[in-house]
Amino acid sequence: MKILVLYSSTDGHTVKICSYISKKLQQNHLVEMTKISNDDKINFSIYDFIIIGASIRYGTYRKIFLKFINENYSELQKSTTAFFSVNIVARKKEKNSINTNPYVKKFYKLSKWKPNVVEVFAGKLDYSKYNFFNKNIIRLIMLITKGPTRTDEVIEFTDWNKVEKFAQSIDNFQLMKK
Ligand SMILES: Cc1cc2nc3c(=O)[nH]c(=O)nc-3n(C[C@H](O)[C@H](O)[C@H](O)COP(=O)(O)O)c2cc1C
Repeated sequence: MKILVLYSSTDGHTVKICSYISKKLQQNHLVEMTKISNDDKINFSIYDFIIIGASIRYGTYRKIFLKFINENYSELQKSTTAFFSVNIVARKKEKNSINTNPYVKKFYKLSKWKPNVVEVFAGKLDYSKYNFFNKNIIRLIMLITKGPTRTDEVIEFTDWNKVEKFAQSIDNFQLMKK
């Protein structure tokens, strides 16, 4: 398969997840990975599978991502696709599935594009990367939601086995289609 992996990321963690998935899929497929940009026109028809990952900031997806899926809705709908959301709420077991995560629900509500595969991954907390304002807001949210508040800690909540399974499901998807 020829696979396109697109990402919408602010601090780079979604890029890391996309790189992991790309590396796995490269064992059997031709994979291209690039950030979502509304400048370049993508020729969707040359790809057999399109994967999009997007992270959450202050309760929402980035505008560029929402604009992209809206403007390319019919092309995406015609293609075989997967989507995954990256957010910190997903660190909680009870909010870690596509049926319970609020940002997956939000995606379904906002998006006319309905991917073949949907997943959610918990993100990363790295206070050292945030400016004064963001650091304090996130810290306050963590305090309220019983998360880590030590600003010298970097915590990656991502379950890499789950990421592996997601990549595997895309690999298998192709095998089923054959
Ligand atoms: C300023 C800021 C706001 C955030 N807001 C939310 C939020 O509202 N809900 C949530 O679940 N995660 C939130 N997060 C956590 C991010 O989704 C998480 O850190 C993710 O790994 C970021 O991915 P990225 O590096 O690809 O942008 C926020 C993080 C930052 C830095």
